[in-house]
Amino acid sequence: MTIDVVVLAAGQGSRMKSQLPKVLHPIAGKPMLAHVLDSAKAVQADAMHVVIGHGAEKVKTAFADEENLTWALQAEQKGTGHAVMMALDSLAAEGTTLILYGDVPLTQPSTLKELIALANDQQLGLLTVNMADSTGYGRIVRDAEHKVTAIVEHKDANEAQLEIKEVNTGILAVPTAKLHQWLPTLSNDNAQGEYYLTDIIAMAVANGLTVETLQPANEQETYGVNNRQQQAELERWYQAQQVNNLMANGVTILDPARLDIRLGDNKNTGLTVGNDVVIDVNVIIEGQVILGDGVEVGPNCIIKNSTLAAGTKVEAFSHIEDAQVAESCVIGPYARLRPGAELADGAKVGNFCEVKKSQIGAGAKVNHLTYIGDASIGAGSNIGAGTITCNYDGVNKFKTEIGENAFIGSNTSLVAPINVGANATVAAGSTITKDVAAEELAVARSKQRNISGWQRPVKTEK
Ligand code: UD1
Ligand code: CA
Repeated sequence: MTIDVVVLAAGQGSRMKSQLPKVLHPIAGKPMLAHVLDSAKAVQADAMHVVIGHGAEKVKTAFADEENLTWALQAEQKGTGHAVMMALDSLAAEGTTLILYGDVPLTQPSTLKELIALANDQQLGLLTVNMADSTGYGRIVRDAEHKVTAIVEHKDANEAQLEIKEVNTGILAVPTAKLHQWLPTLSNDNAQGEYYLTDIIAMAVANGLTVETLQPANEQETYGVNNRQQQAELERWYQAQQVNNLMANGVTILDPARLDIRLGDNKNTGLTVGNDVVIDVNVIIEGQVILGDGVEVGPNCIIKNSTLAAGTKVEAFSHIEDAQVAESCVIGPYARLRPGAELADGAKVGNFCEVKKSQIGAGAKVNHLTYIGDASIGAGSNIGAGTITCNYDGVNKFKTEIGENAFIGSNTSLVAPINVGANATVAAGSTITKDVAAEELAVARSKQRNISGWQRPVKTEK
């Protein structure tokens, strides 16, 4: 059976007070429309049709590489029924059409699957919720047998209908053939002068179809975002869900309210965790991150698109991006691993060190105030405090290669391209411009002179 998904996303979203079209605003770092399209994919939609209007070009550009997607332009917003009409020509002749809103980002695929299963030639599936305050929403009108007979919009409702707490979420599954039949007959003769999609409910009943309702597991699945407050509220809910899942999978999270997991725009599998991972407070995890068994992440760390193997410990205030860290490494406190940083087993990158596009060998130590860029450091080497790989001459980048068990004294500048052999020693304070062979000692600093009886200058009288 063909499943078409129509996403309504033409509205302006003026209450966001933003240059960015509303459906491009993120939840967990991912545009709301991307959440909706991912849910559509998760229910095996054969085709996705997005109705756009305000900010149409920006929305199209943001999803330029999306497959199975057609755009329908609704130049003027004349109502939800009119919006679906704009996509009608590209829908299949038969099957089921699922209607979603681009600004209702968190409906779960499991809910949508249940809803789709309710739709057939004889029946529509309608997602509803009960609200203490149903102001503004379409009311679900039922007859004496509790069968749905119509949806009446707030502005068109009579006194009795205004009391109804069950409301339309806007999400529904309809036999596509019927949609082709009903939509062209919609009228805008109502309080708002709009073409209401909701009018098809009464049409369905008049045609002898039944309307079956479904309630989502969580009300938040039906929340729309109209302003920044609602966006923040859904963000918190989404984060809470993710953190709960992690804890259910055996992760220790010291404060569930102070861990954010952001998905990023890219297609990735998110966060993968081993057993007994511990995450301290104020941590942000972004994109595709793998934390192996027993990994500990200290407070105030950011980890993005990186893999940390079993037993690795990240101490407070470290920032890790596009890095590969093997087992039992120690990072931080205050370390920065930039893209291309690769640490072998047991390596250590400590206080105020920056590593970029470099391999740090097994058990090697880069512990204090150091910059390692475009370098490879052999296993067991010790890089002293304040060492700098001078990898850039202002135009080009060059490599530094250090062999195994080398000892680089503190405050050394290694002017690349440069090789330091295995077991070589570089004296503290050296500026190394020539290769150092294995086992050699290199000293490249001015010789110390001591002057005895030195008189310090004295202040001259004015
Ligand atoms: C609609 C429903 C109402 C329901 C409510 C849930 C109708 C007539 N009413 O209300 O029963 O309780 O949603 O939130 O369907 N849109 C377009 N083009 C348009 C109009 C709307 O693309 O011409 C899009 C908006 O961008 C938004 C969605 O459709 O994503 C809903 O529009 P909105 O104006 O918020 O809903 P209402 O019509 O007030
Ligand atoms: Ca220095």
